[in-house]
Amino acid sequence: MSPSSPHRAFPDGFLWGSATAAHQVEGGNWNNDWWAWEHNPDSPCVEVSGDACDHYWRYPSDIALLAELGFGAYRFSLEWSRIEPEEGEFSVAALDHYRRMLACCHEHGLRPVLTYHHFTTPRWLADRGGWADDRTPERFAQFCTRATDHLGDLVGMACTINEPNVVSILGYLLGRFPPGHTDGSEYLHVNDAMIRAHRLAYEAIHASRGDFPVGMTLSMADFQAVPGGEANMERARHSMEDVFLEAARGDDYLGAQMYTRIRFGPDSPAPLGNEEGVRTTSMGYELWPQALEATVRRAAEVAQVPIYVTENGISCVDDTERIEYVTDALRGLGRCLDDGIDVRGYCYWSCLDNFEWAEGYGPQFGLIGVDRATQQRSVKPSARWLGSIAITNTLEL
Ligand code: GCO
Repeated sequence: MSPSSPHRAFPDGFLWGSATAAHQVEGGNWNNDWWAWEHNPDSPCVEVSGDACDHYWRYPSDIALLAELGFGAYRFSLEWSRIEPEEGEFSVAALDHYRRMLACCHEHGLRPVLTYHHFTTPRWLADRGGWADDRTPERFAQFCTRATDHLGDLVGMACTINEPNVVSILGYLLGRFPPGHTDGSEYLHVNDAMIRAHRLAYEAIHASRGDFPVGMTLSMADFQAVPGGEANMERARHSMEDVFLEAARGDDYLGAQMYTRIRFGPDSPAPLGNEEGVRTTSMGYELWPQALEATVRRAAEVAQVPIYVTENGISCVDDTERIEYVTDALRGLGRCLDDGIDVRGYCYWSCLDNFEWAEGYGPQFGLIGVDRATQQRSVKPSARWLGSIAITNTLEL
């Protein structure tokens, strides 16, 4: 960047990172509900996770690579089914594994952002009714206590539950995630359970060694209504976002995660499809980087706590589309900062091409490619581009 080219600087200490989730990258997570779901012929999964990115063993070189690229943070998650393989039975060896991962981040100067729950639950918990069972919030809080007792001194920041609103809607209303239910009242019940679990986890982490910011991360979209669709839009947004944003008041921060927009019309409570003429990503949804600005503004207004963008990204084959998408998204983030909104970081999803849940390995969200046969990593141009933004704390406009 030449000194005269137009650019925008981000606030000092702004956190630049990238993210993964245990089941999507570790490999061999056979003891959770997702593994069972992938192997269920009646599920919508296109393939199984298998060895994933073998990140369980390859994390040292993956973390070193992120640091070398210039990132300042790494967001990753604990696999509950490894740490508590049967109810009340905790594995110190598994906890020690995550201790080594956290230590590895520190050795490389990366701030570890630790997610306690990222979509997967142990099989024993699924057998007891999963998130629909009334005792699950307490069980989750107990897991959080045990994990924080062991790991808390090394954690930089914690996310209790990743996208509780996705777990409830895709698992209990739309049937795409385990347990594959399609029951409207169970969906609302699980929403409440997730909020209770988050609150208990927040308290448990702070009551243990949690001397770091704790919050939840929420899936958000740029909700829009075509004329006459306002009531449908408001109704959907209430259960999908607002109840969680309101529950985050009083937390240390909110993690906002956004990819696209959702439009509503007057005739049906279900969302309208994509608008003709709008480009789509390889996930099939609209390529809509404007979602970042719209959702960060709304998150800050409703939750009234500092915001971190804990996920934002695009799945594409052509890596230049990723740079375009993130540039537009970051411009919007800049406008939020100009307006005084307290946004403290940006974590790209994802660090690695990985297991995209029911869609399998087709979608490519990664800054770093992974050869499925050899596990060899290949750094994409977008990784170096975003890494240099992290180093300079500046976006070239
Ligand atoms: C999420 C997800 C990721 C997805 C990503 C892309 O939190 O939604 O954390 O697991 O892979 O959103 O769809």
